[in-house]
Amino acid sequence: MKPKIAGFPATRLRRLRATPAVRALVAETVLGPADFIWPVFVRDGTDISEPVTSMPGVNRLSVDKVVDAAREAHALGIPAICLFPYTDPSRRSEDAAEAWNPENLSNRATRAIKDAVPDIAVMTDVALDPYSSTGHDGFVVDGEIVNDETVEALVKQALSQARAGCDIIGPSDMMDGRIAAIRAELEREGFRNTAIMSYSAKYASGFYGPFRDAVGASGALKGDKQTYQMQPGNSDEAMRLIERDLSEGADMVMVKPGMPYLDICRRAKDMFGAPTFAYQVSGEYAMLAGAFDRGWLDGDKVMLESLMAFKRAGCDGVLTYFAPAAARLLNG
Ligand code: PBG
Repeated sequence: MKPKIAGFPATRLRRLRATPAVRALVAETVLGPADFIWPVFVRDGTDISEPVTSMPGVNRLSVDKVVDAAREAHALGIPAICLFPYTDPSRRSEDAAEAWNPENLSNRATRAIKDAVPDIAVMTDVALDPYSSTGHDGFVVDGEIVNDETVEALVKQALSQARAGCDIIGPSDMMDGRIAAIRAELEREGFRNTAIMSYSAKYASGFYGPFRDAVGASGALKGDKQTYQMQPGNSDEAMRLIERDLSEGADMVMVKPGMPYLDICRRAKDMFGAPTFAYQVSGEYAMLAGAFDRGWLDGDKVMLESLMAFKRAGCDGVLTYFAPAAARLLNG
């Protein structure tokens, strides 16, 4: 075939896609293992790896297995691991006191990881839902999730995590004023370098379903979380939350869920230029992993494409259950 008009078009954008070398040269976004935080579910016992039904490929791990996971993550170049405890129902109560027990699962796992793999950062979750008999992130009084009483409990929980040696505290509860309160307590107690990654823009999402199964909170949860988590249609409010949390002393901020909220990530990064993270949550994982298992989507390709999108949207990193699998692919 001979073209009718020689030399047309003048701008051939395909030129820069013509070979792998040139494509590599003009790549705007790079994804690597250092972009990941790996969320893991911890349970009691030893030598246990128990599948989470709604999250194919994800397991609840006993503390010894979590330490193995941390070793694996570190070897793969993943800088951080994030702990979510599955608390035995007998240790859940209305006052959620297990949340600040120095010997609770999360604190034991933190100490075990920091002993065995000191160079990996441990991130912990601040919220009462794994410990409260109501399944809510805060205390429930007469049907209301009470803010200030909850913040006092969250401060105790955060301090017990800092004492166990965690590097990054992740308040996921969405109470008002908790970042300032936790920061003040950490300073008072000498934990100057314990960082806070605030779940600042956390939406009341349907995508958390499999997580609530994984930590055993779905059966208990009465009602929904709409009085503290954001409504999905709001974007300006996300900016107000992020601004507030940064001013209260958050070092890093998070948008959650991830893929349906990439516009929020971009807006946050452009507006504040702060370290910005997104959480590709359990439901996002489940829908992708479910399709991969059935052969409906090419797992390797779609996994990396979904993670690259976060970087392109301005995120500095992603919490993702795909972390080890993606890191293995990226390491070749
Ligand atoms: C609750 C918490 C949730 C997640 C992390 N921390 C669930 C919720 O708000 O109900 C969800 C993570 C996921 O879905 O992967 N403190």
